[in-house]
Amino acid sequence: MAELTVLGIETSCDETAAAVVRLPEAGPAVVLSSVVASQAAEHAPFGGVVPEIAARAHVEIIDDVIRQALDQANTRLDDLSGVAATAGPGLVGGVMVGLSAGKAIALARGLPLAAVNHLEGHALSPRLGAALDYPYLLLLVSGGHCQLLDVEGVGQAIRLGSTIDDAAGEAFDKIAKVLGLGYPGGPALEALAEGGDVSRFKLPRALLGRKDCDFSFSGLKTAAARLAEGLTEDKDRRDLAAAVQAAIAGQLAERTDRAMAAYAETHGDRPLRFAVAGGVAANRLVRARLEDTAARRGFSFAAPPLAYCTDNAAMIALAGAERLRAGLADRMDAAARPRWPLDEAAAAANPTHKPGRKGAKA
Ligand code: KG4
Ligand code: ZN
Repeated sequence: MAELTVLGIETSCDETAAAVVRLPEAGPAVVLSSVVASQAAEHAPFGGVVPEIAARAHVEIIDDVIRQALDQANTRLDDLSGVAATAGPGLVGGVMVGLSAGKAIALARGLPLAAVNHLEGHALSPRLGAALDYPYLLLLVSGGHCQLLDVEGVGQAIRLGSTIDDAAGEAFDKIAKVLGLGYPGGPALEALAEGGDVSRFKLPRALLGRKDCDFSFSGLKTAAARLAEGLTEDKDRRDLAAAVQAAIAGQLAERTDRAMAAYAETHGDRPLRFAVAGGVAANRLVRARLEDTAARRGFSFAAPPLAYCTDNAAMIALAGAERLRAGLADRMDAAARPRWPLDEAAAAANPTHKPGRKGAKA
């Protein structure tokens, strides 16, 4: 098994990102560079991601971002063993920009291409720079997705549960918006919640005690929006933000606890490992509640460094490197896919489960 050095490209939403990751013969991957150019400022006036603006902005800076990633990694195109680019799910105009750039480099240099599922990037991100072996139970919580997965290996994720309406990050973003906070709302809501009184506002606790591993955030979103109306004092908004954050973290922990119990029952012979990934994993209360839950259930706990929770290309390069090592290279006609469930069999068998956000981060 030779060492692999892979360029990763990510353009599925509002970050233009490129990274170089080295996968040694043995041991965890090393991130040689990770460049993320956020378009947040360009979308902020609209309170969300505007697909046309996103696609154009990717085109304008993709070459520069790739060059910076190679420079910072002190790597030339000739040093690469392969190219990985996000092929979906996401805003298809943006996905096409990064995927075309990846194909062009691969074609020009005769390198293998990995057309990576963005969700697999997130799913493998806890392995960036840390020793986390397969298999593990994963909570993937981002702006577009909220799923519990049994990650058996690269290309092998089995969905145990998912949201039946909104994703957790979507709930953070929408409630932040009614509280008058900017986009993306998650980090702003976390900052506002600091020092707030969590017990003052009562919010609904969805699906509590249900035996499956699904999530639901729409009731919480509606209740919080109603409570937010008419709040003018800073202290009131702080208390509501604290209650919302606690409710989201609480549901994530409760459903994960349920999944851990089921996982331990089915796979009691294995080392029990848990990991969390995705933008919402950057939230400190969410992490703390999950770490706690893992400890009580006898699971080890892993989470990527904060920079690899939100969208980045290092996770795409890692997933690509692992795919190439497993002999899973893609053809040059690999398509950009707006929708692409990680566990396609589960998605087909249970279509009532929505991936979460419709549009921007779907
Ligand atoms: O993984 P990500 O960058 O993009 C998707 O693939 O969706 O996740 C973005 C989401 C947004 O909804 C954002 O509000 C949320 O992650 N997020 C947070 C925090 N940082 C990012 N939510 C809560 N607390 C945070 N600190
Ligand atoms: Zn993402």
